[in-house]
This record gives sequence, structure tokens and C-alpha cells, in this order.
Amino acid sequence: MGKILMVPALGRILLGLLLLASSLSALGSSSPSPDVRILSAERRVDLTSSIVKVYLTLKVENSGASHASDIFLAFSPTESEHLAIIKASLPEGKRKKKKYIPLDVNPTELSEAPNGAKLFSKQQFIEVLYILTHSLEPFPAEISQSEPQLVYYRDSAVLLSPYHVVEQILYIKTPTNKIESFTRVDPTNRAGTELKYGHFHDHPPYYSSPILIHFENNNPFAVVEELVREVEISHWGSLQVKEYYQLKHAGARHKGVFSRLEYQARPSINGASSFKELVAKLPPRVNSVYYRDAIGNISSSHLRTDYQKSELEIEPRYPLFGGWKASFVIGYSVPLEDFLFESPEGQHYLNFSFGCPLYETLVDSLTIKVVLPEGSKSPSAVLPFGADQYLEKTLSYLDVVGRTTVVIKKKNVVPEHNVPFQVYYNFNPIFMLAEPLMLITAIFLFFSACIAYLHMDLSLAKKA
Ligand SMILES: *[C@@H]1O[C@H](CO)[C@@H](O)[C@H](O)[C@H]1NC(C)=O
Ligand SMILES: *[C@@H]1O[C@H](CO)[C@@H](O)[C@H](O)[C@H]1NC(C)=O
Repeated sequence: MGKILMVPALGRILLGLLLLASSLSALGSSSPSPDVRILSAERRVDLTSSIVKVYLTLKVENSGASHASDIFLAFSPTESEHLAIIKASLPEGKRKKKKYIPLDVNPTELSEAPNGAKLFSKQQFIEVLYILTHSLEPFPAEISQSEPQLVYYRDSAVLLSPYHVVEQILYIKTPTNKIESFTRVDPTNRAGTELKYGHFHDHPPYYSSPILIHFENNNPFAVVEELVREVEISHWGSLQVKEYYQLKHAGARHKGVFSRLEYQARPSINGASSFKELVAKLPPRVNSVYYRDAIGNISSSHLRTDYQKSELEIEPRYPLFGGWKASFVIGYSVPLEDFLFESPEGQHYLNFSFGCPLYETLVDSLTIKVVLPEGSKSPSAVLPFGADQYLEKTLSYLDVVGRTTVVIKKKNVVPEHNVPFQVYYNFNPIFMLAEPLMLITAIFLFFSACIAYLHMDLSLAKKA
């Protein structure tokens, strides 16, 4: 009687990556609390594109007397390998004043000290979005030009969780109602493009129930295997951007011969899973836009501009079928004042968009190189997520000491990574004079050399 319930605090969501059951016992103090239960779990899996999106809503209850500062989400080894991004939030307040507070999600840091702990009364809703890449397996792995593309998706009908789950349901949305087969778990319902698994009741921790769904997905499986974006800041004018793409159709491999005639007659049947154009979202005030490949400029591109954005429609020289690749470069420049600012501390900073400008496209390996003006000092990059960073020197036309270049590398980049990032640096305006001074000096030296040569020539002529 009179048991006092402390208000449990929920600080961040930790990803207890469920690699091996034994590795979890190694988590020590921050292991999942046995007092926490999930009262209800709703998972919505969106399979309508080539990237898998999962929306998870949990109603969590802490019946213990102590604070539960961490909530663990478990992922299977395959899922954790393909996890591109995960975001969690606590919807706050009543329905009218719903406010989402993004939570810290950290797969590596499994220590205590919840930063910015958020109090919640006895029960709390948590919303999570996570994105899985390369999680749809084409089967058959090879198809001819006139066949549709079928893929497998594997999951568990029951949420893999370190907690007891009282009630749960899973919805899976497919792009069309062409579902070849799916695992049935009592109860399972199918209605059009949606499969419904559950409700399920009272599942113990780490329970799972594998399911396999085989369905048609003719969406472009556009994967940029490697993207290098070079952003060059020149205090004299504009921001120059050059992007090097290595694009691949990562769907079912094309087999047999490709008939352009059949393709052109009925592209929706003779090439349903192929794609021939992509759209890049560029900043609003772009100019000098070009799109070229190894052969030269490709003129079949269209640029649409409005005050919010520009869209560049690009068309490789041939439609891309499964396994086919295309390499190309997109270049443009934008006014410096749209992206370069000064911080209250007097530093300069670039505020630019991370990620890949192509819509609905996954990047296996992204490199962003920010080339700072010559003479820039103490650069630092600020990103809302982890990425590898280092500095290098770029030596270009008219440079004396080379330009400090901030290099940022990230694997497994999805459209949700298209958020602003910043590069701060110190710059002494005196360096702006370096290049003109060099030019003047060079011209002066050239003429001095000419004069000296003429004099020398004359004196030699006299001697002869
Ligand atoms: C390609 O287009 C760009 C921009 O329109 C132009 O500057 C460049 O000279 C062109 N290159 C060739 C090889 O035509
Ligand atoms: C960067 O730009 C975005 C808009 O593109 C803006 O919302 C954000 O506040 C800017 N960040 C900084 C640090 O200036």
C-alpha cells in the first residue's frame, strides 16, 4: 500500500543491436529494464519504393520504482547492417498541442548519463522511423526485358523487442496488389496493397516469427554506388559545385538481348523495371548548369526553376536495366550569399545540403569535399549525424599554398539525409589579395625576364 511511483525519465533510445543474445548481457548497467513493458506496438512497413521505411509507434509503461532512462530497440543482424537512419520522438502534450522532441539515438554509446532527459508520466508514446536499404531481394535474380520485377522482403510478424509486448499489430504496404505469396501467421489479412499481421497478444522478450513476402516492385532501384560532391568556395564570386555519379540499377539483372524497338513501342511492358530519367533537386538560383558523361555534354536535360528550388531532369544515354551502370557529372554554380554566412563569433560558415540531390535514390558511399578559399584556418564541420571527416589540400589554378579541403564521408545515405550541414572556418581578407598580387607579380616577372632576355641577347650579339 502507498507504494510511491517515481516518475520515470526517458532520455534517449538506445539501439540494443541484437547480434547475439550473449552480447546483451555485456551491456551491464544500461541493459533493458525488466520493469518496462510495451503495452502496444504498431509497425507500418512501407515497401512502395526500393528503400524500406518502417514507422513504429510504441506505448511504453514503466512499472518499476526506478527511472528507466533508456528504451532499447532491437534489430536483427541483417537489419542493423542495412539500417541507414533512425529517428525517434516523443509526442508531447494533448492532441491539439502535439510537439515532437527528437530523441538521441545512439547505437554505439551504451553508457549511462541520459542527456536532456525527458520526464514522462507512467505511460508514454514513442514514435520511431527507421530506414533499411538493400533489403528487397530480387527473385528471380535475372529477368528478361518483358518480365516484371519481383522481390522478397523478410521480416518478423512480431516485433523483435527486449521487452514483453502486450498487444501489437503489423501493416505492410506493397506498391501494387500483385503479391505472389506471403507467410500466413494467424491472424493475417490481406486487402489490396496492404497486409495486416495481428493483433497479437502477450509475446515474451526476443520473440520473433519470420515472414517472407514475394511481390512485384517495378520502382527504379536507382543506387549511386559512389557519389563525390565537390563544393568550392571562392570569396570572389560563387559557389562551384561538381558532382560525380556512378549510378547503377540494383534490381533484378537484365538477361537476354535488349531491344530498343520493343522498349520504345511499349516501355511500360518491355522495360517495366527499367528507368531512363532521374530528377535532381538543385538550389533555387543555380546557373551554368551542365550534365555530361565520358562522351561529352548530354543535351537531353531540362532545368525548371522557381523561387524555392530548381529541378534538373536528366536522362542517361540509354535506359537503365537491372545491373546496368552509368557514370556522369552534374555541375552548377550558385550565388555565394545564399550559402555563405558569418557567425556571431566572426567565423565564416557554409550552410549547404548534405545527401544526394537525386530524388528517391540511395547512395552506397558519399564523399563531400568542401574546398575552402586559400588562407582559411581552423575549419570544422557540423553535421546532425555521425560521419568520417578529415582534411586534405587541394591545389588549383593560381594557388600558392593550396586550399584546405574538408572531406566528409558517409555510407548508406538515403533521402532523409538531405539536411543542412555547416563548415565553419576563419578567413583573413588579406588573402583575397593574394591571387591578384600573384598575377601582377607574375606579369611583372615576365616582363622583367623579357627585358633581361632582350638585353642579354643584344650583349651576346655584340660579342659575336
Ligand atoms: C558543356 O556545357 C557546358 C555548359 O553549358 C559548357 O561550358 C562546356 O563548354 C560544354 N562542353 C562541351 C564539350 O561541349
Ligand atoms: C541552414 O539553412 C537552413 C535552410 O536551408 C536553415 O533552416 C538553417 O537555420 C541554416 N543553419 C544555419 C546554422 O545557418
